[in-house]
Amino acid sequence: MLNGEKKIARPLRWAMIGGGRLSQVGYKHRSGALRDNTAFQLVAGAFDIDAQRGRDFGVNIGVAASRCYDNYSQMFTTEATRPDGIEVVTIATPNGTHYEITRAALNAGLHVICEKPLFFTSAEVIEVKQLAAEKGLIVGVTYGYSGHQMLLQMRKMIANGDIGDVRMVEMQYTHGFSANDSADKFSDAQKWRVDPKIAGPSFVLGDLSTHTVYLSQLVLPELKLQSLLCDRQSFIPSRAPLEDNAMVLMHYHGGAVGRLWTSAINAGSMNSQKIRVIGSKASLQWSDYQPNELVYEVQGQPNQVMHHGMPYLDESALADDRLGALHTEGLTESWSNIYLKFAQAIDAKQRGDEAALSQMVYPDIDAGLEGVRWIENCVRSADGGSVWVNVG
Ligand code: NAI
Repeated sequence: MLNGEKKIARPLRWAMIGGGRLSQVGYKHRSGALRDNTAFQLVAGAFDIDAQRGRDFGVNIGVAASRCYDNYSQMFTTEATRPDGIEVVTIATPNGTHYEITRAALNAGLHVICEKPLFFTSAEVIEVKQLAAEKGLIVGVTYGYSGHQMLLQMRKMIANGDIGDVRMVEMQYTHGFSANDSADKFSDAQKWRVDPKIAGPSFVLGDLSTHTVYLSQLVLPELKLQSLLCDRQSFIPSRAPLEDNAMVLMHYHGGAVGRLWTSAINAGSMNSQKIRVIGSKASLQWSDYQPNELVYEVQGQPNQVMHHGMPYLDESALADDRLGALHTEGLTESWSNIYLKFAQAIDAKQRGDEAALSQMVYPDIDAGLEGVRWIENCVRSADGGSVWVNVG
């Protein structure tokens, strides 16, 4: 159980790029990273594309005025001159900036925690992975819900053979907030999401489904994708060529199959991300709408709903529990768990403990690479006429 006691010798000196006053995702990063004040300390930032607003915001949340910067270049240069300069930076800016800022951060000697989708192309990720390796630095990717402990329970039960041989993976990440085009006109966060110059080659495939695909890789680390077929549409025509709805069929090595639906035009749906793994004996299902519950359905037996914090769970799931079974845990705790793992990975890297690092399960640069490859392959399939494409 996690109670905030220190897991690393001292908190890491942390900065943010983006994530300021008007950002959608910034607070998720801060509430995750700063949940345990033994893991990170927010000491600097270039919080906004509008320098004055970013400075004002930084001071408002308690960062020293002298360490609220106009832009990330100024921050990297100035912090490098301080004996207590930043060690790790989070990049919470729109997609099109991630590659350039990540490279600059690594070249400044900083560990990086970056938003998804990591970059536009897998070639960029491979190049940056090499750079990070040369510099001895970590790159983590914030697949927000992947820190929920019930997913570790799912991973363990599948590895134990509790559902038998895996036959099918059924995934969904959809919502209805882009069912019409009003947000495309009025919301800055939506405008860039449907602009290929800033969003990259996809809208919902990158914005939503990369999360769920990573969940499938987390719970099924042995399952490797072989081929896929993607069909994508822009129900709001002005979004083309980017899709607001997509369906993907998958074949995995070994004979299992998969299906994923991702959409921002699921009118009336507030949020639904779910993953169901169907085996030869039983199925397991998890949804981020009921994240504390793992549904275990054994063919021929009454269904079971397993609950977080209960002693019947695997020790890996209990180790990441924070509040105990009496109280609900959700997105905030999940982000806290991911950030704690980033801190432990960075600490292991700083200590040169590669053995410990190799045992850690967290969304690293390979998880970022898989997400970018997923988008590339889906787009290749869809734009080739929704044909099957081999992916590995
Ligand atoms: P947003 O449009 O709400 O906010 C972006 C922020 O970045 C703005 O405040 C803007 O001022 C700032 N910014 C832009 N360029 C900058 C620069 N060069 N330097 C400093 N600040 C800069 O976007 P949102 O929704 O917060 O998304 C940001 C990133 O987070 C995207 O990559 C998105 O895919 C990802 N995201 C991830 C989520 C998750 O659950 N992991 C949830 C929402 C977004």
